[in-house]
Amino acid sequence: MKLFNVYPLQNMVPVKAKGSYIWDNNGKEYLDLYGGHAVISIGHSHPHYITRLEEQLNKIAFYSNSVINPLQEQLANKLGEMSGYNDHELFLCNSGAEANENALKLASFYNGRKKVIAFEKSFHGRTSLAVAATHDAKIQAPLNQTHDVVFLPMNDVDALRENMSEEICAVIIEGIQGVGGIVEPNAEFLKLIEEQCKKFGACFIADEVQSGYGRSGKFFAHQYAGVSPHIITIAKGMGNGFPIAGVMISPEIKSKYGLLGTTFGGNHLACAAALAVLEVIEKEDLIVHAKVVGEEWIKNLSELPGIKEVRGKGLMIGIEFEDNGAMIKEKLFNEHHILIGTSSDKNVLRLLPALNVGEKEISKFNLALSQILLTQTKPQLI
Ligand SMILES: Cc1ncc(COP(=O)(O)O)c(C=O)c1O
Repeated sequence: MKLFNVYPLQNMVPVKAKGSYIWDNNGKEYLDLYGGHAVISIGHSHPHYITRLEEQLNKIAFYSNSVINPLQEQLANKLGEMSGYNDHELFLCNSGAEANENALKLASFYNGRKKVIAFEKSFHGRTSLAVAATHDAKIQAPLNQTHDVVFLPMNDVDALRENMSEEICAVIIEGIQGVGGIVEPNAEFLKLIEEQCKKFGACFIADEVQSGYGRSGKFFAHQYAGVSPHIITIAKGMGNGFPIAGVMISPEIKSKYGLLGTTFGGNHLACAAALAVLEVIEKEDLIVHAKVVGEEWIKNLSELPGIKEVRGKGLMIGIEFEDNGAMIKEKLFNEHHILIGTSSDKNVLRLLPALNVGEKEISKFNLALSQILLTQTKPQLI
């Protein structure tokens, strides 16, 4: 059997990884500033992560949600304590799309409505409801297309006010848009979403799948605005590569048997991985590190000639180039062996490194990018 084509592939076969580095099958070293779609949060092969998983594997790796799993409670408690959402309840699943799928479904169970407000350039995943709320017609099958989702421009307060009503089930927004090219909702806009959702009985869903888990320099990016969504979705960095995701649900939405369910979600090994990640984030103070290092990095990048704009918070950084984003990404990979991410805008590249990325790695990237940009600068005509 052949593999179904999904993504165009980078020409490399990774066989080993440690911290922010990956080695391919020819022994070539790569600097990983992308973490495989923002997944590697505490670095590859972190010793505490390996020990935690090995220990768990030797005890019990999996049993379904039909029995008591104390690791789930430990995870919910630790997550509540570290994120400041102690009062929320946690539903565990396996991927970002699945988390958003369940969040939207739960919102609809809660208020009995079916219209959703999402935003231009959004990405919420590829399952039915998540993809319907994703602003990319190319990845929606005819079955996914619906008039029940309306896409509004980001930060447009008038459009939001005009479209809110008692028909709206949920407003779903990324803490910081990732795939869309690092686009931030501003604090005023998030506060308005919170206010309007309260006023009309709609659910405010914050998709923190990419921007969450400390990446932005706060546990969640929406916390910069001081808002408190009804539902928060998490995945990616949560398991540092082990598939695990979650839906954090405010006490207003009461749980009831049978509404949500999953076979694999929250299994023993997945919980051990997620606990290991939180323990490392806490012990190594990685949220503060992401904030401090990220601010400095954004400032330094902004000073490089040949860059249109640098956006983002913490270690979720978008670099917008005039017209040569794709070529710069290729040069970084081919000539400097550095992995970074693209976005839906071909001129916006994303930096999504491990939260413990160091000065050495950052300097290496800055130097490589400066060299590429220098060769791009046209000679001055005298
Ligand atoms: C903000 C956001 N939500 C949801 C998803 C979907 O996550 P997954 O690929 O784990 O289904 C992604 C993936 O890129 C994402 O960036």
